[in-house]
Amino acid sequence: MQLNSFERFLVTGKLRRLVLRRFDAVRLLKLGGRVDGGTVLEIGCGRGFGVEAALDLFGAKQVHAFDADPAMVGLAQRELTQRRLMAGGNAPRIWHGNASEIQAATAAYDAVFDFQVLHHVSDWRSAVEEVARVLRPGGKLYLVESLRGLIENPIWGRWMDHPRDDRFTLSVLLEELERHGFTLQAKRNWGEQFVWLTASRN
Ligand SMILES: C[S@@+](CC[C@H](N)C(=O)[O-])C[C@H]1O[C@@H](n2cnc3c(N)ncnc32)[C@H](O)[C@@H]1O
Repeated sequence: MQLNSFERFLVTGKLRRLVLRRFDAVRLLKLGGRVDGGTVLEIGCGRGFGVEAALDLFGAKQVHAFDADPAMVGLAQRELTQRRLMAGGNAPRIWHGNASEIQAATAAYDAVFDFQVLHHVSDWRSAVEEVARVLRPGGKLYLVESLRGLIENPIWGRWMDHPRDDRFTLSVLLEELERHGFTLQAKRNWGEQFVWLTASRN
């Protein structure tokens, strides 16, 4: 689902880059450590701040990423070009795609990053299944998500557009991850609002 103009403004601004790098990434690094080498995938890459973080903070060798909104794909390509990250043999590959039907081979990735995307996906359970499919056994999922408590919050609910049916609580998300062969490594959550977690693919 595409973002409304308010959320698009938040997600493409400098503050989002700061929060992703100084807060979300720091928390994920504490929970799951660095990738150090390997090829990783980011689902729903927005303006590309997660691609940049996967390269310079998590130490990925190569990053692939996609977004369901073609405008975001363009923004990410421009942002990463300006940061001189689109050059060379290991330049990120960015495409227009859907998390419920990932255009990648089975077991292709050493790690997958989800920075605030699954809660935007109507069929988020298929997206979890797809993430499990494209991760190699032993590969790692790094995830930051908004939970049902936030989606149903009367204030945020007025400002942001999210699918409303079948949104996940923390326990529902953990159950779905387990059902698709993930073992939780570590997590932090703010009640039923936000979760940061890492999980490994069995
Ligand atoms: C809240 S933004 C997060 C963007 C970026 N990951 C970040 O943290 O800055 C959610 C992103 O997911 C994308 N998105 C929504 N549904 C998607 C889907 N089914 N498949 C891939 N991307 C999707 C949106 O276009 C948007 O760029």
